[in-house]
Amino acid sequence: MVPRLLKLLNYLPPEFTYEASHILIESGVVVNYHSYGIKMPIEINGRLIKNPIGLGAGIDKDGFLTPQMVRTGIGFITIGSVTLKPRPGNPKPRIVKYPGLRAMVNAMGLPSRGFLDFLDRLPGLVRMARRLGVYAIVSLAGFSIGEFLYMLDRIRAYDIDAVEINISSPTYHGSWLTNSNYLGDLLRLIDSFPKLLFVKLPLGADMGFYRWIVGIANERGYGLTIANTLPIRESRISVGYGGLSGYPIYPLVKALIIKARKWGFINPIIGLGGVMHGWQVLDLMRSGANLVGVVTAFSYEGPFAFSRLLRELSMEVSERH
Ligand SMILES: Cc1cc2nc3c(=O)[nH]c(=O)nc-3n(C[C@H](O)[C@H](O)[C@H](O)COP(=O)(O)O)c2cc1C
Repeated sequence: MVPRLLKLLNYLPPEFTYEASHILIESGVVVNYHSYGIKMPIEINGRLIKNPIGLGAGIDKDGFLTPQMVRTGIGFITIGSVTLKPRPGNPKPRIVKYPGLRAMVNAMGLPSRGFLDFLDRLPGLVRMARRLGVYAIVSLAGFSIGEFLYMLDRIRAYDIDAVEINISSPTYHGSWLTNSNYLGDLLRLIDSFPKLLFVKLPLGADMGFYRWIVGIANERGYGLTIANTLPIRESRISVGYGGLSGYPIYPLVKALIIKARKWGFINPIIGLGGVMHGWQVLDLMRSGANLVGVVTAFSYEGPFAFSRLLRELSMEVSERH
């Protein structure tokens, strides 16, 4: 009944759906607490993660959904992206859905209540994630090296598992991606951070860029999150552009993971982009991903996406044995 209602929400204005589903999840009404007993532990730098499926960045930007999300059976959660200063994000409309394609375009503009507000709540969030055995990643978005260094310095003291460095959001207007000297300085300067760092790659960059950044991440021991959305024009969005996510980007994501491994990348990879079915989780893992995230599937189905994916993965795994 509830999953059907959530499906209907997809045909209402996307902004309304986004806000309504957040209220429903935060209130605990639509959480599904099954994990289908799937036993598929993944080891990341000596830490065992109960299963490879998790939430990618962008749904739980300020951590308000974390208390419910960690009960959905997922192996990891990415909280954020959070920015140093509070941001309202772009004017609405900033989401367009293509239900037939299981895709969407968003230009949220990195809205967040800001890093300091987030830090106040972080210890409670981490405790909940720990209690339920969920690997906790915080995604940081920064507009300068100074902002990233400040946030990394402050977050060191917290018991999170990893940080994701978001340098690939369409909101940056490509600034990190067009100035490779500046990006190179950032990637060098964050290297003393004591926990695992994941660098989140863009889609739509050229091969030279990918080779370069994969090489740096390999050398410095960073993981990679492959990938962010694909920047495209969309006139129905207030700012006229956005990032495409969902099913159509899956082949690009898979190809990039395969490339990174072919180039000798040995650190952990989170595969993220267009995963809608259990077979895709296995497919991305066979292509070289260690963990597999979802965002758009969650946007369409809410937390039921996780129970479905865990069930499908469990069936895929048992069929293969
Ligand atoms: C509504 C929405 C908001 C997003 N916000 C962020 C964000 O704040 N930080 C980030 O790194 N990626 C963000 N993303 C990108 C996702 O984390 C993910 O990389 C992308 O959507 C591809 O995965 P998917 O096809 O499963 O959605 C967002 C995506 C969507 C759809």
